[in-house]
Amino acid sequence: MSRIDTDFAFGGKYRVEEAIANGGCGAVFQGVHTIAGKEVAIKLEPAIAKSSPLKQESKIYKTLSGAPGVPWIMWSGKAGDFNVMVIDLLGPSLEELFRMCNRHFSLKTVLLLADQLLSRIEYIHSRDLIHRDVKPGNFVMAKSDKDSPHLVNIIDFGLAKKYRDPRTGAHVPYAQEDQHGVGTCLFASINTHLGVECSRRDDLESLAYMLIYFMRGTLPWRKIRDPDAEKTWNLIRDKKLETAEFLTVGLPAEFDIFYKYVRGLEFDDLPDYDGLRGLFRGLAEKNGFDYDWAFDWSVPKPNERKRKRKCRSCHACSAAAEAAKAAAAIRRAS
Ligand SMILES: Nc1ncnc2c1ncn2[C@@H]1O[C@H](COP(=O)(O)OP(=O)(O)OP(=O)(O)O)[C@@H](O)[C@H]1O
Ligand SMILES: [Mg+2]
Repeated sequence: MSRIDTDFAFGGKYRVEEAIANGGCGAVFQGVHTIAGKEVAIKLEPAIAKSSPLKQESKIYKTLSGAPGVPWIMWSGKAGDFNVMVIDLLGPSLEELFRMCNRHFSLKTVLLLADQLLSRIEYIHSRDLIHRDVKPGNFVMAKSDKDSPHLVNIIDFGLAKKYRDPRTGAHVPYAQEDQHGVGTCLFASINTHLGVECSRRDDLESLAYMLIYFMRGTLPWRKIRDPDAEKTWNLIRDKKLETAEFLTVGLPAEFDIFYKYVRGLEFDDLPDYDGLRGLFRGLAEKNGFDYDWAFDWSVPKPNERKRKRKCRSCHACSAAAEAAKAAAAIRRAS
């Protein structure tokens, strides 16, 4: 086993501090630049297999970093038994904020988010990539003490993939497998459930589920869970097909237009991102909302005592033990 610096400084500079979350691909920690004192996020994965999702993710960050709403990558490499990636430390994810707001976002907040989310996804697509795991946990606000605290950042490129050749512009060919595709089944597109090769339309369908989730507080298949993951994917697929017609009932018509539009896109269609932003901007205008970035969580409600956030996220709480184990392993390796 190769040694890590005695003060556990990755890249000679970045020291792990407290755990933030333990996701599907590894653990995320808050860390610090030992000299400059700058806070960073450190994502770790055990370096077991030859193929490394984190190495792949680091490569993608290097090509995308610098655009608005994409965190900077500071360092990536291998340390002891871990692959490591150091990126900008951001604030809470939309999933955390949704829980903090008692699982309800106002129409204004949803529209403010939709505008930025469409732009983030459009940017990723313009760089020949599809994200393939669009969900509230993979969008993270900037830290509240930064210049642009209203900025929604897109993270987690562990499943991202090229959908066209950057040189020729040729789209990947249509394909369908017997098995469902990758991602998170709660927000996966119906075509992903059906094993159809992912393309731009699937990121947007996942975004539609996200926005409906924010508006409704839930999705009809949210509680479906079977010990067999395969079965869960199938049960959720069936529920999505069964409820597709009623999903947007009771919501402003724009959500139905959006959902029907993304469901109607062909495999290699270029989505009309501008038109979709315009659709939601029109709804904001009808309701007299300004794009002033006053989200539900940034506007204190009258007579409401400010609730103290106990931890960075609920899933982080339950995963803290796991993450702490990883930290202990790093210390042991040094
Ligand atoms: N740069 C960051 N700053 C602050 N928090 C972050 C950062 N990166 C990730 N997180 C937090 O850690 C969580 C997990 O990170 P990420 O999605 O990159 O890992 P993952 O292993 O792919 O997780 P999952 O499988 O749950 O999507 C995010 O939902 C977010 O709450
Ligand atoms: Mg994630």
